[in-house]
Amino acid sequence: MATPTMDKLEALEKDSTTSHLITVTFRIRRYNPEVAEEPTWQDFQLEIDPKERVLDALHKIKWELDGSLTFRRSCAHGICGSDAMRINGKNRLACKTLIKDVSPEKPITVEAIKGLTVLKDLVVDMEPFFQAYRDVMPFLVTKGNEPTRERYQSAEDRERFDDTTKCILCAACTTSCPVFWNDGQYFGPAAIVNAHRFIFDSRDEAGEQRLEILNDRDGVWRCRTTFNCTDACPRGIEVTKAIQEVKRALITRRY
Ligand code: SF4
Ligand code: FES
Repeated sequence: MATPTMDKLEALEKDSTTSHLITVTFRIRRYNPEVAEEPTWQDFQLEIDPKERVLDALHKIKWELDGSLTFRRSCAHGICGSDAMRINGKNRLACKTLIKDVSPEKPITVEAIKGLTVLKDLVVDMEPFFQAYRDVMPFLVTKGNEPTRERYQSAEDRERFDDTTKCILCAACTTSCPVFWNDGQYFGPAAIVNAHRFIFDSRDEAGEQRLEILNDRDGVWRCRTTFNCTDACPRGIEVTKAIQEVKRALITRRY
């Protein structure tokens, strides 16, 4: 096989690093209660590489076009869970969504997640969401004396709640749930996922207490198994399955 010349290698390298910019319209639902009572849609056009993420586009808009655009983000790598938003009508993390994957030939709509009060633009009041999380006691509860060595757990027992340890509390699941939209009192999928994480932990001793909390009229029985939550979860957690397991544990009292 012929060895590529330096010129060809340089051309190849240049091609792989050259970005191919396209014009994309971002249609963002804006809301500023100090300016207007009702939200409005605003279009921004950008020349952008479709391999960039929606979060990069929001940064570009904020830094180059309109500094008042308000949204949350921190890690930019799918870990902190702060930039869940509705992109083209579906809950996603802006930092994990490539522009090329959300039909950039048409305007890309970006709006706040549903079911929580919008404070400004894409920022919602997360307090009811975190209150439901706190209500299920998302921490290990044990009785008796402090252990003198680590609490033993078999690999099989650890496996039982492995999936639900992956939650980053982004709220994408809870705010994609029609039951939560209609009645914000429902604990919501994320709180149940985090209860599951401890109910099925063999070291924990407050499973009964958590189950009783979720036996409430606003607890697991409100779930209508629509699977929106599983589809929305950016961590690939089988949210609906976790909710089903908690329902089963409530009936059988075995977990
Ligand atoms: S279960 Fe998934 S979608 Fe729900 S809060 Fe946790 S990471 Fe986000
Ligand atoms: S910015 Fe942290 S998850 Fe997207």
